[in-house]
Amino acid sequence: MAGEVLGVLCSGRGTNLQSIIDAVASGQIKAPIGVVITDKPGVMALERAEKANIPAVCVDRKQFATREEFDAALLAELKKYGVTLVCLAGFMRLLTAEFIRAYEGRILNIHPALLPSFKGAHAHRDAIAYGAKVSGCTIHFVVEDMDAGPIILQAAVPVEEGDDEDSLGARVLVQEHKLYPRAIELFLAGKLTIDGRCVRISK
Ligand code: GRF
Repeated sequence: MAGEVLGVLCSGRGTNLQSIIDAVASGQIKAPIGVVITDKPGVMALERAEKANIPAVCVDRKQFATREEFDAALLAELKKYGVTLVCLAGFMRLLTAEFIRAYEGRILNIHPALLPSFKGAHAHRDAIAYGAKVSGCTIHFVVEDMDAGPIILQAAVPVEEGDDEDSLGARVLVQEHKLYPRAIELFLAGKLTIDGRCVRISK
């Protein structure tokens, strides 16, 4: 689709957002970021967006009584900025079915583990506690079930003796910053086809 516009949703420090900003600047990602939205005020992702002259909007989850109202407000902002592809980058909220329907097949997420292992908000802690020797990161399409959508790309990272959440997280993050821009690049080039549970990647 020509004229794609990215909307990046974050909850915190925004290093994955930064990797997307940098990939737009370098020309790897051939579409602009129309807006960055956070669900909390005062987070670093907002500063990163402002620094890159990208509209930065906080839709504060605390101001909304229900998930439905919050998601409706998110959708209104995305629409306002003409967003066609939603990239969740450390966005710590589950989206409603209504939101997902509005961007069917057009929502990507990054998860810091090799799905379907270690879903949820504590992937590194869980991988270490389980005794996994390999972890990594996954970019996938978003469906209603958490961390369950068709997988686009994965990168494996060793879990080393003595690792804690921070050391493993830092090692995985290096791969995240390469993988997310690559997945967006493939999406924008029209190379991804969802085939049931699988994503076919054409050459
Ligand atoms: C990343 O590890 C991402 O995989 C996970 O949350 C973290 C966000 O980090 N979903 P950042 O805000 O992009 O630095």
